[in-house]
Amino acid sequence: MSTTDADRETWSTRIGFILAAVGSAVGLGNIWRFPFQVGQEGGAAFLVMYLAFVVLIGFPAMMVEFVVGRKTGLNTVGAIREFAGGAWKYLGGLFVFIGFVIMSYYSVVGGWVMRYILGSANGGYTGEVAEGAPPMAAQYFSEISVGWDALLFHGLFMLIVIGIVALGVQRGIELGVKIMVPAIIAIFAALAVYAFTLSGAADAYSYYLSPDLGYLLDNWQSIVPAAAGQAFFTLSLGMGVMITYASYLSEDENLGVDGASIVVFNTGISLLTGLIVFPILFSADVSPGDPGAGAIFVSVAKALGGIPLGTVVGVLFFGTVAMAALSSAISLIEVVVSYAIDEFGFDRFTATATIGGLIFLLGAPVTIDTVMVDLYDILAAKILLLTGGILLVTLVVWVHADEAIGELSKGIGRFGSLGSIWLWTVRVPVLIVLIVSLILGIQEYATFLTGDFAEFLGNL
Ligand code: TRP
Repeated sequence: MSTTDADRETWSTRIGFILAAVGSAVGLGNIWRFPFQVGQEGGAAFLVMYLAFVVLIGFPAMMVEFVVGRKTGLNTVGAIREFAGGAWKYLGGLFVFIGFVIMSYYSVVGGWVMRYILGSANGGYTGEVAEGAPPMAAQYFSEISVGWDALLFHGLFMLIVIGIVALGVQRGIELGVKIMVPAIIAIFAALAVYAFTLSGAADAYSYYLSPDLGYLLDNWQSIVPAAAGQAFFTLSLGMGVMITYASYLSEDENLGVDGASIVVFNTGISLLTGLIVFPILFSADVSPGDPGAGAIFVSVAKALGGIPLGTVVGVLFFGTVAMAALSSAISLIEVVVSYAIDEFGFDRFTATATIGGLIFLLGAPVTIDTVMVDLYDILAAKILLLTGGILLVTLVVWVHADEAIGELSKGIGRFGSLGSIWLWTVRVPVLIVLIVSLILGIQEYATFLTGDFAEFLGNL
């Protein structure tokens, strides 16, 4: 049994769709992942490459997903099956799988964030420690990032996500993002103004904003996959979120304008995050280059202890990050939920609760050690999303170009040669960059598996 067209929900307004897509895009990718990638990949050099990829690769790839979603009006699996057929149908299955992988660690990190709201309020991560002990901020992170604490907050995060998604497209997702997205933008703008007043602001801006091209040339092999992976991750591309969200579009909108607004908003939030995080770090003499998933938690927490109004800023900061994480997580799970509803005739509540429960189980091993976050994260961002992107792009612009162009042109007044510019951008340069990034990403993952991860296994 499957849902008929008449039963399928749509966005109530165009702005509802844009906000939902922005809510999906803006998340831990911007606030947690972005600064730690910037720190790991050499500051402004990474920023330049990342910005170039967002515009030249991310935006055209988003159009690819929109076209498939709106043309078919179906969940990812159904959409790809209808669009292409044959062996392509497995691509939809790959998307659903990627959704599970990302959600299971995303929710654990989301749990850390919620825990940090408490930690900020009760001063859990500031204060003195016994002499010789690691600083409080580091100690706090190592306590709450693994074990029962982490598991509990991972569960809590999933429960909230399930609650919102179970309410449906309009009453749950759309209402949720209409509240959360404006709040995120307002609070972050205020925090950036505050960060501007801090003593370390000038050093931070120069670290963050003046690129060293020599560094870029010397390190392109790690910067390229990191930037491509981050561009896909932050724009929620490569696993059908934008297919699913565009499938709830009822009329012929101008997909180009919608996509451009989403890209601009999302990039703005990432840039704003840098303008908040780096001044806070530099003001407290914390190095932004400390690698790893915990970097931003430990260093921001350490820095908050040493700046004026640290408690208030901490609660606001982590509270906002939690909202951003939730509005992204609902899009990730919605891909799988809409698939279960459309294809198997589940009701929304059963589908959401079952899938949410499964994600909770899959995420549980991530709470064993923070190296597990890297295990999932490198796999997801530098391999799976790029693979999903390459396959989908090939399908749409090489195999079904005419349908794609036809669909894209709807709702765009004077289309002219825009269609062929888009087509050829995606056909050659975008695909080349994605393939090169994927190869480098696979090499990096192999190094991780035989290095850090093997060491972790050896110590078990
Ligand atoms: N874009 C979100 C972020 O930056 C995360 C996310 C939501 C995502 N949906 C996705 C990442 C789909 C990849 C694919 O936090």
